[in-house]
Amino acid sequence: MKKIASFLCAVMLAGTVLTGCGTSTAPESTGTEPTSEHTAETTTQISGETEVTDEIGAADASASEEPVFNLETRTVTLNNGIEMPILGIGTFNLTPDECENSVYHALLDGYRLIDTANAYMNERAVGRAIKRSGVPREEIFVTTKLWVSEYERVEESIDETLARLDLEYIDLLLLHQPYGNYIEGYRGLEQAVADGKVRAIGLSNFYQEKFDEIMEIATITPALIQNEMNPFFQQAEMKEYVKPYGTVLEAWYPLGGRGNTQTLFNDPTIVEIAENHGKTSAQIVLRWHMQAGNIAIPGSSNPDHILENISIFDFELTDEEMEQIATMDTGAGHYDYTSADQEQEERFTSSTMDFDAQE
Ligand SMILES: NC(=O)c1ccc[n+]([C@@H]2O[C@H](COP(=O)([O-])OP(=O)(O)OC[C@H]3O[C@@H](n4cnc5c(N)ncnc54)[C@H](OP(=O)(O)O)[C@@H]3O)[C@@H](O)[C@H]2O)c1
Repeated sequence: MKKIASFLCAVMLAGTVLTGCGTSTAPESTGTEPTSEHTAETTTQISGETEVTDEIGAADASASEEPVFNLETRTVTLNNGIEMPILGIGTFNLTPDECENSVYHALLDGYRLIDTANAYMNERAVGRAIKRSGVPREEIFVTTKLWVSEYERVEESIDETLARLDLEYIDLLLLHQPYGNYIEGYRGLEQAVADGKVRAIGLSNFYQEKFDEIMEIATITPALIQNEMNPFFQQAEMKEYVKPYGTVLEAWYPLGGRGNTQTLFNDPTIVEIAENHGKTSAQIVLRWHMQAGNIAIPGSSNPDHILENISIFDFELTDEEMEQIATMDTGAGHYDYTSADQEQEERFTSSTMDFDAQE
């Protein structure tokens, strides 16, 4: 009974933590420039030991490339040379059935990027949808994340995630939160690259200070950071900060977040631009992400929305429209990860889940 209660509590906590009920957000603090020890030139990208198997097309140990967004191919080349789709389907807060349905429709519509996490309790559903779609595995880019509780048992946790996904490898694996023993966690991710289980690694909800901590120990520069990002919270500073490392940003809450989309969709600037192009507000926001150089993973349980969200490659926002959207930035999101928040940290570090208790 106690176990069930703590599991439910943890699931609710994960939901609460990630859906906008956290601490209020202050404007992002100004970061310092990367120090000379941390520059892309002086940080070893991938150590000699971290060779990976060819069959998963994993990182080239010598590669260190500036990410290039290509809206024709709808991909970006990451700093380890791997190509990643720039628009994907998000699965947070989707039940296993909803998740399977969404991912299945997304794959049929041409999406090739899927974002999940062990904390979303729907990795098995992602695996089922991939099989059901018939799309070859190598055409799909699967991102998942490790919860804080797993940072000291990364190897076992990855094996469990692979079993739930029913896949041989993960394309991109992220540390979900910047709490707990994330240093050990990151070392575990690097080992997983060396073991050929993961093609690229990165972080989520990390800002300047903690990114620097990772860079102090990293032998593989994070390929990507997944942070909250949308026209109200554009993350220009963070993007500049990680640019020397070739690290790209990926937007969670790209449409403002479940339950919070309407303010963004009804913003007069977005509505006017949508009318100009005969597109919906969601499409304008997603097109903005693409042209702004953000990877975006809108979440949806509605097949019509899923199709709508990928129908954004047949028009272009003008420079003026991009500038208009740039003025919408408030510098604040739903969460503040830039200041020490003891209570938030304790909630995340004490939260444990029985990840295998999913359908
Ligand atoms: N790393 C992290 O800590 C973190 C945190 C949060 C999220 N994420 C990831 O980021 C993904 C995106 O975030 P999110 O799903 O929370 O928020 P979001 O993508 O900003 O918004 C999702 C909401 O938008 C609605 N929506 C989607 N397309 C629409 C359209 N064309 N027209 C109208 N409404 C539309 C969805 O409703 P319908 O279902 O009705 O379409 C849902 O309510 C997540 O799914 C997850 O993969 C990561």
